[in-house]
Amino acid sequence: MAGISFLDDHRTWVLTGESSTYALRLDEDDVPTHVHWGPALSDAEVLELSAKTLPWWDGFNDPNEGLAELAADGGTRYWTPALQVRFADGTRALEWRYENHDITGEHLRLFFADRHYPLRITLHYRLRGAVLERWTELSADTDVEVVRADSATWAVPLFEDYRLSHVTGRWAAETQLRRVSVPHGETGFGSRHGITGHHANPWVMVDDGTATERHGEVYGVALAWSGSWRLTTTRSSTGRLTVSGGFGQDGVVHRVGPGRPLTTPVYAGLYTDGGFGAASRAWHAYVLAHVLPHADELRPVLYNSWEATGFDVTEAGQRALAERAAALGVELFVMDDGWFGARTGDHAGLGDWQVNRARFPDGLKPLVDAVHGFGMRFGIWVEPEMVNPDSDIYRAHPDWVLHHPHRRRSELRRQLVLNFARPDVAEWAHEWLDRLVGEHGVDFLKWDMNRPFSEAGWPGESDQDRLWVEHTRAVYALLDRLRADHPGLRIESCAGGGGRIDLGVLARTDQVWTSDNTDALDRLRIQHGYGQLYPARAMSAWVTDNPNFVTARSVPLAFRFHVAMAGVLGLGGDVVHWPAGELAAARDLVALYKDIRPVVQHGALYRLRPPVDDGVTALQYVLGDRVVVFEYRQAAHFGEPERPLRLAGLDPAHRYLDPASGTAHSGAVLLARGLPPGLPTGDFASRVVRLNRLKI
Ligand code: DGJ
Repeated sequence: MAGISFLDDHRTWVLTGESSTYALRLDEDDVPTHVHWGPALSDAEVLELSAKTLPWWDGFNDPNEGLAELAADGGTRYWTPALQVRFADGTRALEWRYENHDITGEHLRLFFADRHYPLRITLHYRLRGAVLERWTELSADTDVEVVRADSATWAVPLFEDYRLSHVTGRWAAETQLRRVSVPHGETGFGSRHGITGHHANPWVMVDDGTATERHGEVYGVALAWSGSWRLTTTRSSTGRLTVSGGFGQDGVVHRVGPGRPLTTPVYAGLYTDGGFGAASRAWHAYVLAHVLPHADELRPVLYNSWEATGFDVTEAGQRALAERAAALGVELFVMDDGWFGARTGDHAGLGDWQVNRARFPDGLKPLVDAVHGFGMRFGIWVEPEMVNPDSDIYRAHPDWVLHHPHRRRSELRRQLVLNFARPDVAEWAHEWLDRLVGEHGVDFLKWDMNRPFSEAGWPGESDQDRLWVEHTRAVYALLDRLRADHPGLRIESCAGGGGRIDLGVLARTDQVWTSDNTDALDRLRIQHGYGQLYPARAMSAWVTDNPNFVTARSVPLAFRFHVAMAGVLGLGGDVVHWPAGELAAARDLVALYKDIRPVVQHGALYRLRPPVDDGVTALQYVLGDRVVVFEYRQAAHFGEPERPLRLAGLDPAHRYLDPASGTAHSGAVLLARGLPPGLPTGDFASRVVRLNRLKI
């Protein structure tokens, strides 16, 4: 039965969510100790597992290692520390003393204190459907240095072997899925960039090496944080594997004291039995039900001007693009970088958020009115956390950026990072953003962030390290405030493409810009990695021009559309110069997308064939009676015959009608044998197949 129970005699808590159980207990020393994570178990079954702690073997080996719920440094605990503290008298480490607990609905809180020092620790556990959210709160009556404050330690059951799934990348190559055997010892994943980052993403999944897309147990964890972060897998010779995780980075210390508690971000965990596909679908369901603010909305088809105009933004040029976009069926027109201050390139003007009067002589109103008049919503690009040194705002406030007094200020993309942890900076940003949105009837912000932190100092502040956490918190607070004051406002998270995609930012935005790389082939891979955890409903994907500006590759229009249609479709090409034939085709493809959009954005994803250079890549979405299948063949070789594509997630007892061909297929046949071949011949062949389940 779903819910939380406390087995008093055994000092054990059992949390059962949708189809899985998590259990922990207190050991003899009050240390919160892991008991079970995995298939659903009854309370009685959990107690079978919750045997007495094993004795120490000898002076060096601890059979209980890796079982602490939050592996606190100290005493004879040598596991990867999730919590490291130093008290004012120099004493390091924590000794747990259990105080009490509270269960409110699906939320369990365990209250602890140090045995001697006035430090209190609360461990939070909250059931959210199939997911268990965990985080930690620290508070103290005197100053305590917290060297590491992870949100939780997750212990994976003992397997013969462990395999890790995770993503790596870089700018224009985000979320590349990797599957590797978990090394013995400690392996770290993280970002020291001050943002989530392009190089890794704060989640990992673990299986025993045998899971496939459709079969097997998968354990996953994901951190809801958009600043620097670290996840550490620890695999010991006793066979234990844990994944500790939290915000921060080595060398950055938190200070907790009177009036300065520390709450870590949510670190969510999910057990599924049904392969990587089921794991992804469960994560998507969690994001839609518990993370995204307006998940039930359909995201509109967007046009973005960046690739068409670069910084050459003018009122007439934007209006022409908007008119053409509207005729294609676009519903939201977004003007990108270059509309403000002296921002005619990346060298100047960033931070001066007044409209450029040379480009917009009468302000933004005529363009906004025109866009609304074309029947579209109006969106605009902003990068609130940045300045160009060549800007009026930086000349007026050179102390507002992250800097150290005796160090140079490293510029990346000719810009510096504002210190949002400073209340005056955050207030300034709120003031101009609020005015921009309110005065101009802005419906959508593309919130960009185009460089990592460097020289992250705050001269004059006694606790400079706090900027690492508080910058991110201030961004969150500003997003929350804007949303509360402008309920119709929708926001896209962007950081030079997909540098800020995580559960934390998804809780306060509506979609994310997946990558600056819009090449359709590369996107198949990027989207494959993105979709392991995050849903199509938030995955912004544009159709842009040939040749692609990152890869110089040219890809047929239909293929580009079909790839972008597997997420939130957008257009980013210079549509004013598209030939009539492409415009007509684009209009039809936008209309097709609007028809399939509910299934793509709200349906369950089945990855039928992963991205491959040779052969066919395919995926499928299912929502109620409706099914949409995407098939892509990059290159045809040797006249290979096309193979039927076996579908998934269908009802074998029903028939499914393909309205395009008028053919009804039996669900059992589609599952057992597959969809009959039908891709066009040659390279870059793609198709979208719609199927509707018929009543029996
Ligand atoms: C980086 C973004 O990812 C692009 O889409 C574009 O908005 C540029 N910044 C504008 O400077």
